[in-house]
Amino acid sequence: MNKRFNFQYIGYSKLNDVIAIVATDLKNGIGKDNQLLWHLPDDLKHFKKLTLNQVVIMGRNTFESIGRPLPNRINVILSKHPTAAIKDVEWYSDIDLLLKELPMKYPDKQLIVIGGSQIYKLLYPYIQEIHRTLVHYVFDADTFFPDFEKDFECLESNFHTKDEKHLYDFEFQYWKRKNKR
Ligand SMILES: NC(=O)c1ccc[n+]([C@@H]2O[C@H](COP(=O)([O-])OP(=O)(O)OC[C@H]3O[C@@H](n4cnc5c(N)ncnc54)[C@H](OP(=O)(O)O)[C@@H]3O)[C@@H](O)[C@H]2O)c1
Repeated sequence: MNKRFNFQYIGYSKLNDVIAIVATDLKNGIGKDNQLLWHLPDDLKHFKKLTLNQVVIMGRNTFESIGRPLPNRINVILSKHPTAAIKDVEWYSDIDLLLKELPMKYPDKQLIVIGGSQIYKLLYPYIQEIHRTLVHYVFDADTFFPDFEKDFECLESNFHTKDEKHLYDFEFQYWKRKNKR
């Protein structure tokens, strides 16, 4: 696969842009009690397909919620208190250093922010594209994705009706920042 021109939903992606992948409910809720709010197997496959072999950037809470480094991806964890003992992850405590170093270290990979709420907010100004899975339900969430719709335009949307494996209707959306270079 050509890394500059990713598959299906990604059009042209400048190498050092930050891409966000998120699943939200209808009010941009993303989690509760440091867990996801739904189990949608096809969304997990979608997430894997988009992130495989790329750099995934996450906050410490999300890393703890996942419980292990994601295989076949470069795992970057943001924390003010890095835990050196955990193997196979790269720790950053300074967002400016992360944004400076990662593009130089991994020039042929996409930088993909995968959450959670604090880290989406922190990196929001740098996010140029969003792969959002919209779950058609309102949950009792305690963490949220920033209100982004005014800054981005939705270029693609694929609707999936609920079935025996998916309790909720959902859609895969691809959004691009309006003023993208
Ligand atoms: N639906 C989705 O797509 C999705 C995706 C991901 C996560 N989630 C959900 O989101 C929730 C977790 O989100 P969250 O906001 O609580 O946590 P988070 O963003 O995953 O992690 C927060 C942590 O990141 C570190 N951090 C924050 N700002 C920093 C900075 N400026 N510099 C360095 N480190 C910084 C801190 O770690 P230290 O405390 O160690 O300093 C902070 O506690 C969970 O419910 C999870 O399931 C949902």
